[in-house]
This record gives sequence, structure tokens and C-alpha cells, in this order.
Amino acid sequence: MRRVSIDDLKAMKQRGEKFAMLTAYDYPTARLLDEAGVPIILVGDSLGMVVLGYSSTLPVTMADMIHHVSAVVRGTQRAHVVADMPFMSYQASSEDALRNAGRFLQESGAQSVKLEGGVSVAETVRRLVEAGIPVMGHIGLTPQSLNQFGGYKVQGKTPAAAVKLLNDAVALEQAGAYAVVLETTPAPLGKLISERLSIPTIGIGAGPYCDGQVQVLHDMLGLYPDFVPKHAKQYAHLAEEIGRAVREYLTEVQEGRFPTERESFMMGPEGEAVLAELSGLV
Ligand code: KIV
Repeated sequence: MRRVSIDDLKAMKQRGEKFAMLTAYDYPTARLLDEAGVPIILVGDSLGMVVLGYSSTLPVTMADMIHHVSAVVRGTQRAHVVADMPFMSYQASSEDALRNAGRFLQESGAQSVKLEGGVSVAETVRRLVEAGIPVMGHIGLTPQSLNQFGGYKVQGKTPAAAVKLLNDAVALEQAGAYAVVLETTPAPLGKLISERLSIPTIGIGAGPYCDGQVQVLHDMLGLYPDFVPKHAKQYAHLAEEIGRAVREYLTEVQEGRFPTERESFMMGPEGEAVLAELSGLV
């Protein structure tokens, strides 16, 4: 089975076909997403918050990401797997960026990488693309710059901020990025940027006009009840379902209703004799 390629995604934009991207961080979930037909899976550094329990994405390391991207690649056959470059794996120099992006393709088997920033990372994007590493850009509310933004705020609301975002998007396209994530920006700006670019835009809190949409899996499945962003729609409430199942298990164990014969292993006809012999020994 062939994996979805960056050309497939660009062709979808040309045909006006919308597509969905989802995050995944482990083997079993990646398998489920792949089997459900998700064309593109992002192993986001949101891993830090929804899986590792940090309060931001900043503590996530290359070692964390390599570990989880590898598991997602093992769980997929068809989906295009994007590895998110963690904080400080590409900001200090293009050389760092090349080395770390290369590790994702070489050691984890990812098909492309994603990094945050626009004009400021365009030269780095160009170097990666020239080295044969497909790059997805990410602009708007870029979580690795949380301290710079002073919180999770909508980006691109003033004319100057909107022009800056448009310039960032164009710079990424010109540097060779194959797609751009737009995070937490007004819907009309999402529309304008999507119309200006020939590469796909993938929105998260950027309105319905983007070419694709991305959601953090734990948000859409109701698995991360600490905080539900405004842009997230919960298609399931798995935290409640897990709580219910675990409480039922606890009760059944306490009351001696689990395990039953159905979940137990028997010894067969010779069992009686074995037990008799054992009881003679003790
Ligand atoms: O880390 C992540 O999950 C992301 C998405 C929110 C786009 O970057």
C-alpha cells in the first residue's frame, strides 16, 4: 500500500477537495486513524501537554518526539506521517534544523516535518527542502512562542498583524513548504490566505475556508478534560467512558464478580489428579 504523498495533498487543493489531519502519538491510536482513512497524521509536540502532562509544549525534546513518531509510523501503512520539530530543535541554526529534521526521516520513518514560524524560518525551510525533506509550515498562534504572545490569543486581528501573517504564509510557500498550518486566526483571514496560496492551508481555529482542518485527537475525543479550546468539537466523551469502565472494574474486583470462569484457565480432566497430588505435597 502506498502512503499519501505531498503531491497527493497539493492535488487535493487543486481539485477543491477538503481533507482532515489529526494528531496521534502512539501505535494503537495511529492504527485506528489509519484504518479509518485519515490521510495525514501529525505527531504534534502537543504530545507534551496531552500525553506527557506538561503545561506547555516547551519541555518536549527530540528524544520524546523520535520515540513517539516511530510508534506512529509503525502503526500506519497509508497515512502521511508528519513529525513536529520541538522547541529549540531548529531555531538556533539551519544546521541544527537539518540534522534534527533528518533524524525524523532516517530514525523514525516520518515522511515530512513541521516547524513554527514564517519569514523568520523561511531560509531554514529552504535548506531542508533542498536537502529533500518536505516541510509543513505553522503560523498564527504558534505554541512554542507562547511566552512571546503572553498567552493563547487569536493572532492576525489588526490590519498590521494580518499583513504579517499573509507575508509569513507567502514566504513559506516561496521557500518550498508543501502546506501551512494556520492556528487561531480569524476565519476571513484564513480564507484570504487560503485563496492566495497554491499550497494547502490546514486550519485549527482558522475557520471553515482552509483547504484542510487539523484537530488534536485528545480534544476531539474528549480525552483531555483539563481544557477544551473554543475551536475544538468533541465527537466523543472518552474521559467519561474510561472513568465509567474503570469504576465498574474496581467494583467487580472488590465484589468478587471479576474474574469469572470465562476469564479463567482450567486444568482439564487430569486437573483433579494434579491438585490431589499437590495437596499431598503441601
Ligand atoms: O502540536 C500540535 O498538535 C500542533 C497542532 C495543533 C497543529 O502543532
